[in-house]
Amino acid sequence: MRFLFLASLIGLVSPICAQDDEEPPAQPTPTPAPGPIIIDTFANVTVYQPDDVNAQVTYARTENMPNNTILSVWTDVKANNTISIYQSKDNGFSWYAFGTVTSDVAGRRLVQPHLLYVNGTFGEYEGGTVLLAVNAIDDRSTNIELYASGDSGESFEFVSRIVSGGPPNTTNGATPVWEPFLLVQNNKLTVYYSDQLDTKYAQKLSHRTTTDDFDNWATALDDVTSQFYSDRPGTATVAKLPNGKYILTFELGLFNNLTNKYTYPVYYKIASSPEAFANERTRKLTVDTGGQPSGSPFVTWSPLGGANGTIIMSASNSNSVFVNQALGEGAWREVKTPAGRAYSREVRIPDNDTTKLRFAGGAESGKDTPSQILVTIMDLEKALKAFG
Ligand SMILES: *[C@@H]1O[C@H](CO)[C@@H](O)[C@H](O)[C@H]1NC(C)=O
Ligand SMILES: *[C@@H]1O[C@H](CO)[C@@H](O)[C@H](O)[C@H]1NC(C)=O
Ligand SMILES: *[C@@H]1O[C@H](CO)[C@@H](O)[C@H](O)[C@H]1NC(C)=O
Ligand SMILES: *[C@@H]1O[C@H](CO)[C@@H](O)[C@H](O)[C@H]1NC(C)=O
Ligand SMILES: *[C@@H]1O[C@H](CO)[C@@H](O)[C@H](O)[C@H]1NC(C)=O
Ligand SMILES: *[C@@H]1O[C@H](CO)[C@@H](O)[C@H](O)[C@H]1NC(C)=O
Ligand SMILES: *[C@@H]1O[C@H](CO)[C@@H](O)[C@H](O)[C@H]1NC(C)=O
Ligand SMILES: *[C@@H]1O[C@H](CO)[C@@H](O)[C@H](O)[C@H]1NC(C)=O
Repeated sequence: MRFLFLASLIGLVSPICAQDDEEPPAQPTPTPAPGPIIIDTFANVTVYQPDDVNAQVTYARTENMPNNTILSVWTDVKANNTISIYQSKDNGFSWYAFGTVTSDVAGRRLVQPHLLYVNGTFGEYEGGTVLLAVNAIDDRSTNIELYASGDSGESFEFVSRIVSGGPPNTTNGATPVWEPFLLVQNNKLTVYYSDQLDTKYAQKLSHRTTTDDFDNWATALDDVTSQFYSDRPGTATVAKLPNGKYILTFELGLFNNLTNKYTYPVYYKIASSPEAFANERTRKLTVDTGGQPSGSPFVTWSPLGGANGTIIMSASNSNSVFVNQALGEGAWREVKTPAGRAYSREVRIPDNDTTKLRFAGGAESGKDTPSQILVTIMDLEKALKAFG
C-alpha cells in the first residue's frame, strides 16, 4: 500500500473540480458475433460512474461466473460500510447493480476488494460460492475479511476475519494490513496480503491458507521480504502457469534517499507451489524496449501463444500490457492496448473466448479527477500476432 491511495481511501486528498465539457467515452456498438464463443471487442464501457464527482472509484475487480455472467466490484472512496456488486450478462458490454456487501462491524469501510468464484463444494459450502475478500477499515484498524455468497453474488454473509492490523497508515513502523488477493487450487484457498505487522520489515507480502472451510486459517507465511527494512513489497497477484508453477507479481516500493521518495517498479517470483514463494528469487520485470512498468501490477495467464501460453501483466503507469511467452524467463514485451491505464487495473481472460483480454479499471494512478469504472475487451490474439 502506498501513501497516495491511502490518502484517498481515508479522504485526505481533496478532489479537483469536474469539467462540464468532457465528452463521455465512446461506446461502440458491438457487431454481431459470428459464433457463440467469439465475444465482441469494445473499449471503455462504463460499469459505474458515481453521481458525486468527488467520489473516486478505483481498484476494479471482476470475476467470471457460470452461465456467461461476470461480476464486478471496486473501491468507492465515498461508500460507507457497504459496497456494490455489479453484474453483466453480455460479456461485459452492459452492467447493472446486482448485489451488496455490508461490513460485519458498523462504521468500517470495505475497500480493496477481490472476487473469486469457487466451483462445486468447499467445506460446508455447496454448489458454487462467490467469495469476496476486502480490507475493512476504520480509524482504529485494518482487517482482511472474507464474505461469501451462495446466490451468485447477490447477497453476502461475513465468514471470517483473516488478519487484523493497526490503523490505516502507510508510514514505516505502523502496523496495518492491505490488498488481499484470493487463489483457490486443489481444495485449498489462499489469501495473499500486504503486511506491516512484522517489525523487521516496513512491509512484506504474506499469505494464509485454509483447506477444510473458509475460516480455519493456517499460520501466516512470508512470500516476499527484503533485506532492506525500508523496501515495501505490495499488491500481490498470482497466476498459474501451464508447467504447474505459479507466478507472483508485486510492486516493490524502493526508497530513494536522494529524492526522499518511493518508486514502485514491478518485480515477480516463480514457485512450484503457491505457498512456497518465500525462498524463490525476486526478479525485476524488465521490458525489451527498456521501459519500466511500475505500480500495483496485476498478472494473468492466457493459453494463446504456443506451449507456454502468454503471461500478461498490467501495471498502473502504462496503457500497455507486458507479456512473456517463456514461462517468466527473459525479457518481457510491451503490447499496446485500447484501455486506459488505471491504479491497480485488472487483466482477465474471458471464460468463453480465450483470444480476448478483459480490462477493468477506475481512477488513474496519481490522478484525483472524477472517475468511473471502465471495462474493455481487446483482441489479444491479433495483438500477439503483430509480433510475428
Ligand atoms: C461460458 O463459460 C462458462 C464457464 O466456463 C460456461 O458455464 C458456459 O457454458 C460457457 N458458455 C458458452 C456459450 O460456451
Ligand atoms: C445457470 O443456468 C441454469 C439454467 O438456467 C440454472 O439452472 C443454474 O442454476 C444457473 N447457474 C448459476 C450458478 O446461476
Ligand atoms: C456516509 O456517511 C456520511 C457521514 O455519516 C454521510 O454524510 C454520507 O451521506 C454517507 N454516504 C452514503 C453513500 O451513504
Ligand atoms: C463445476 O462443478 C460441477 C459439479 O461439481 C462440474 O460438473 C463442472 O464441471 C465444474 N465446472 C468447472 C468449470 O470446473
Ligand atoms: C502513523 O504511523 C507512524 C509510525 O508508527 C506514527 O509515528 C504516526 O503517528 C502514525 N500516524 C497517525 C496519523 O497516527
Ligand atoms: C542512500 O542509499 C544508498 C544506496 O542504497 C546507500 O549506499 C547510502 O548509504 C544511503 N545513504 C543514506 C544517508 O542513507
Ligand atoms: C517456453 O519456455 C521455455 C522456458 O523458458 C523456453 O525455453 C522455450 O523457448 C519457450 N517456448 C517457446 C515456444 O517460446
Ligand atoms: C479509453 O479510455 C482511455 C482513458 O481512460 C483512453 O486513454 C483510451 O484512448 C480510450 N480508448 C479508446 C479506444 O477510446
